[in-house]
Amino acid sequence: MSSPVPHDMRSSESLKFPKNWSSKPRVWDRLMSHVAARRGLAIMAVVATLAGCGESNSNTPATPGTPAAPAAPSMTPDAPKVPAAPAQGDAAKATDGTKKDDADAKGDTIKVGHYASMTGSEATFGQTTEDGVRLALEEINAAGGVRGKKLEVITYDTQSNAQGASSAVTRLITQDKVVALLGEVASTRSIAGGQVAQQLGIPMVSPSSTNPKVTQIGPMIFRVCFIDPFQGTVMAKFSSENLKLTKVAVLYDKSQAYSTGLNDFFQQAFKKLGGTITTVQTYKGGDPDFSAQLTTIRDSGAEAIYIPGYYNEIASIALQARKLGIKSPLMGGDGWESPKLMEIAGESVEGCYYSNHYAPEDERPEVKTFVEKYKAKHKGEVPGALSACGYDAAKILADAMGRAKSLSGKDIAAALAETKDFKGVSGNITIDAQRNANKSAVVLQIKGGKPIFVASVDPL
Ligand code: PHE
Repeated sequence: MSSPVPHDMRSSESLKFPKNWSSKPRVWDRLMSHVAARRGLAIMAVVATLAGCGESNSNTPATPGTPAAPAAPSMTPDAPKVPAAPAQGDAAKATDGTKKDDADAKGDTIKVGHYASMTGSEATFGQTTEDGVRLALEEINAAGGVRGKKLEVITYDTQSNAQGASSAVTRLITQDKVVALLGEVASTRSIAGGQVAQQLGIPMVSPSSTNPKVTQIGPMIFRVCFIDPFQGTVMAKFSSENLKLTKVAVLYDKSQAYSTGLNDFFQQAFKKLGGTITTVQTYKGGDPDFSAQLTTIRDSGAEAIYIPGYYNEIASIALQARKLGIKSPLMGGDGWESPKLMEIAGESVEGCYYSNHYAPEDERPEVKTFVEKYKAKHKGEVPGALSACGYDAAKILADAMGRAKSLSGKDIAAALAETKDFKGVSGNITIDAQRNANKSAVVLQIKGGKPIFVASVDPL
């Protein structure tokens, strides 16, 4: 996938997604059966913890810097409207074959927390990441676990909001006593959860949050994905060099750190390449009507629209844009990644482009093995980028925990910082001095309702 030549935009017509790439909403059904099977005290406990955030959809970007005091678990008796559903670990009861004398962690298992949007506006982000984490966990434990003990992953739902992220992280650290954390996907929520993790001294690995501010929180916060100055540049270069566009409009979600960041990075790069931004319009996650912004964009003479948002709003925007007679291609970032996008938007997103972390057609052996194993476990379904990133994050964390001097937050963080050339599914991962991963991105085009690999771009 990678090429030694920077910005290599190799087109590959021969690469196609397998026919059985699924756009079916199977995740929700599976989640519900999972929840039903585990309904009971555990759910009640988490509902109590997260109560009070059900109504809040405030995804205002938190500013990193001085970490905010962790939100105390709220014990409001009123359950939130959407109950937070903890998906407890497969390995939760696995206690066999563990060494009792490991001074690093008490008990029979080593606990890691995963906080994820299992419900709410970006539910497929959390669900598909969780699938990747669980696959990695099975492999780690089948190979003997970590430091002679089984690894246990405890997953809590953030309900797709920042307050839910802080509450989940607080609970994982203070009550479940996890030694490290995986999560979140959305940058705004990783910033909220990361501030708590940093303050309490527990290392966190985000699988896929790309906004620079996430790891700027402090030395406990890592990620295994590229960052948005790169991702924004990838799409700007693709627009300019491959699509030969000179006039692009931008429409971004001002309630998400991810979207505001990509707006800046794309604009900077596109202008540097000689392009013109015809108009910049905004919306807020959850908005239903985009006609005012789209009308302005239509009349601005843009040849394409860059929309660095999340899949639900992208689907509505695409449908409304076509109704308004806008035929030009829409372009976006990894936030488009969801089978729901094609399911809801159908024809409206046909021919559109977005940047992402991985393509399942990649010939690297790590990708092939991962895709095979995932398909075997998920009825032939081809894994998306979030599953790949979740898998890599869990594998890298386990690897670092195995190498760490002890399981203290400081020692796990030191081992994570030393991660070099880890052969991940989403690429070769080296953690840099800013605790980010330097890796390639791919550009995908939606064709026949499926994302198809178009190009791969190496780090700048
Ligand atoms: N990069 C996005 C963010 O930081 C999250 C995301 C990653 C969404 C990958 C989909 C796929 O908010």
